[in-house]
Amino acid sequence: MARSNPAPPAINSAPASTSSSSNSRRVRVWLELAPAGSGVFIGGKLSVDRQRPPGSLAEIAMGCAMAIFVWLLHPGHQRPVDPMRRNTVTRRGKSRVAECDAKETVSILGGTGSLGFGLALRLGEAGYAVCVGSRDAHRADHAAAQARELVDDGTFVGCLNGEAVTRADQLVIIAVPFASHVATLKSVAPHWRAGQVLLDTTVPLATAIGGRPTHLVEPWHGSAAQQARSAIGDEIGLASGLHTISAAALRDLTHPLDQDTLICGDSRAKVAVTAALERVRGLRVVDAGSLEMSRLLEGLTPVLIGINIRHKTHAGIQVTHLQARAEQRAALA
Ligand SMILES: NC(=O)c1ccc[n+]([C@@H]2O[C@H](COP(=O)([O-])OP(=O)(O)OC[C@H]3O[C@@H](n4cnc5c(N)ncnc54)[C@H](OP(=O)(O)O)[C@@H]3O)[C@@H](O)[C@H]2O)c1
Repeated sequence: MARSNPAPPAINSAPASTSSSSNSRRVRVWLELAPAGSGVFIGGKLSVDRQRPPGSLAEIAMGCAMAIFVWLLHPGHQRPVDPMRRNTVTRRGKSRVAECDAKETVSILGGTGSLGFGLALRLGEAGYAVCVGSRDAHRADHAAAQARELVDDGTFVGCLNGEAVTRADQLVIIAVPFASHVATLKSVAPHWRAGQVLLDTTVPLATAIGGRPTHLVEPWHGSAAQQARSAIGDEIGLASGLHTISAAALRDLTHPLDQDTLICGDSRAKVAVTAALERVRGLRVVDAGSLEMSRLLEGLTPVLIGINIRHKTHAGIQVTHLQARAEQRAALA
């Protein structure tokens, strides 16, 4: 991804009349526009158009300014930068590097898929830098580019799943089909750092074995999330959630989600997940207990899929008579 840093175009009188390259054309334009006798220091050498009589200091200064302008136009002059930084610098033509550096990065394994991409949009909209993970670098880049189109001021970068874990400041979300759940977790195993947190969205739908989306299969460990626990180290926090949030609702940025998600898992992981997800417009996080509860939470998805089929909608859930979000957060901390 990093580009090499080519030398700035040699700006002197010679190439103006000889080369057919775009650099030379730009140099020629500069020479034609530059005041008579103007010159510029490049690489410690003063370059002067000797066909013209020497001019005043003001003319030389103007020549310098124009040379810098020409050099800035050169497509290869940019220093190699992180794609996240480059994106934010170029969008809307203003520098937002500092703002981008301040953004926390959340990564999504399977971020190219239905749920993962919708989540990427919502988290990008909420102010996170989002690393869209995939098994394929081109698919990842394409999804990140699409997300940039859809979210004003969003920061998205495509990466391989392993790199996505490395890049995440703390939170990594896995959004892949149950059939590839363990394989995906094993593929990223060397990239984890102590203190990171995994949010598992996986539902063991029977489609993994050719069955119906309204049926579940029962993983040996009790749930997909407990299966994840056995696949990642104990030093990684683990929570399970988002099973009832439809990909279609996530992608529809014209509406706030206006629903709840029940999460369960380690206390520390739940705090990190709650802090991130509650920045998503209209999403409230409800603590549903320890990781063992995931078996029941995962079971809500086929129920909702059945409702969606019958009512031709993208239903979600809301839990009534709960404390306000702030009080919940205080209780969790
Ligand atoms: N869709 C929903 O509305 C929804 C709602 C709640 C929960 N969920 C759960 O979220 C998870 C993802 O659902 P989804 O609908 O987003 O799935 P999906 O679109 O079918 O797949 C998501 C991503 O997983 C990767 N993937 C697909 N097959 C794979 C394989 N054999 N091996 C490794 N990676 C593979 C692909 O990424 P790359 O090819 O780029 O690697 C794909 O883009 C599932 O467990 C689902 O039950 C979904």
